[in-house]
Amino acid sequence: MTDEISEEDWNRALTAATASPEESDLEASIRPGKLDDVIGQERVREQLHLLLESALRRGASPDHLLLSGPPGLGKTTLAMIVAAELGVGLRQTSGPAIERSGDLAAILTSLEPGEVLFIDEIHRMARPAEELLYTAMEDFRVDVVVGKGPGATAIPLDLEPFTLVGATTRSGLLTGPLRDRFGFLGQLEFYNADELASIVTRSAAILDVPVTAEGASEIAGRSRGTPRIANRLLRRVRDYAQVKGNGSVDRSMADAALELYDVDRLGLDRLDRAVLEALTGTFRGGPVGLTTIAVAVGEQPDTVEEVCEPYLVRTGLVARTPRGRVATAAAWQHMGKNPPEQLPFH
Ligand SMILES: Nc1ncnc2c1ncn2[C@@H]1O[C@H](COP(=O)(O)OP(=O)(O)OP(=O)(O)O)[C@@H](O)[C@H]1O
Ligand SMILES: [Mg+2]
Repeated sequence: MTDEISEEDWNRALTAATASPEESDLEASIRPGKLDDVIGQERVREQLHLLLESALRRGASPDHLLLSGPPGLGKTTLAMIVAAELGVGLRQTSGPAIERSGDLAAILTSLEPGEVLFIDEIHRMARPAEELLYTAMEDFRVDVVVGKGPGATAIPLDLEPFTLVGATTRSGLLTGPLRDRFGFLGQLEFYNADELASIVTRSAAILDVPVTAEGASEIAGRSRGTPRIANRLLRRVRDYAQVKGNGSVDRSMADAALELYDVDRLGLDRLDRAVLEALTGTFRGGPVGLTTIAVAVGEQPDTVEEVCEPYLVRTGLVARTPRGRVATAAAWQHMGKNPPEQLPFH
């Protein structure tokens, strides 16, 4: 193979590809549609199975459910599966989209009996809307306020029974009263390498990409424990294999593509490495506050906290201490630097 593509061209092509509608169709086609197709998450899957099965037998709506965990682990997927398994419709909205309680009242009063209402990023819902949700969840009723000032009256409206599925990347930010109204709390965990390899193999079959077991596990190992990333890397490796090879993915093809795509051995991307670089560079290992790190890497503190940190903490590269974030010995080693004699959190 003599055709060389510059890294810059490659990256530009990748960025364009990520945004294409074709890609989001593919995304939809590889999303598991039934509980049985879900790989991993044994505990949550078993719990959900019982919840749904018993609701179906009773002919009633199941309890409201809250799904929490880092981005890309399957919260939206599971919400869709809940509706599909119950054989009911799914209405989808998100916390930030509900600006006024009236917006939420309109959605709630238009639900068909038994429908699933999915509220993504539920921790970002405005307070008045959240309060409206309390009676809706508990008594299937909303009090709609008509008029303004002293003449305003609250008119109670009965709702059809429904199941609320809330999703959040930050369950710690949920208020007590809201959290307590969920009958089921499902905490999604990062996936292990075997589970991710199965996900890659399944997705590759759907996308019609030939992949060897080693190729799948190479991709899996660099997916940060996250199915969305596994699927994304698979598509990037597929592109590479189609341009540079004969379209099939083995270990060396996956390895070369991921190298080019700047995904390192642990699956850390540019932002993860920027955080480690800042921690082990400017801040000499820490401890340093989240906001300071975020400024140093030019990102929002929320992004650093919700997207990067859970995985960096899980892999033992970063530790959270009461005084701030610190780089562990493993982080220094991964960045190819010598740690200071005394690590800051001892
Ligand atoms: N258990 C699983 N088995 C197979 N594929 C999965 C699984 N979980 C998630 N996926 C895949 O990963 C992708 C991301 O999942 P999903 O959109 O449900 O994540 P999410 O938790 O809602 O993320 P976010 O917090 O960003 O909204 C889906 O398109 C789906 O194809
Ligand atoms: Mg989602």
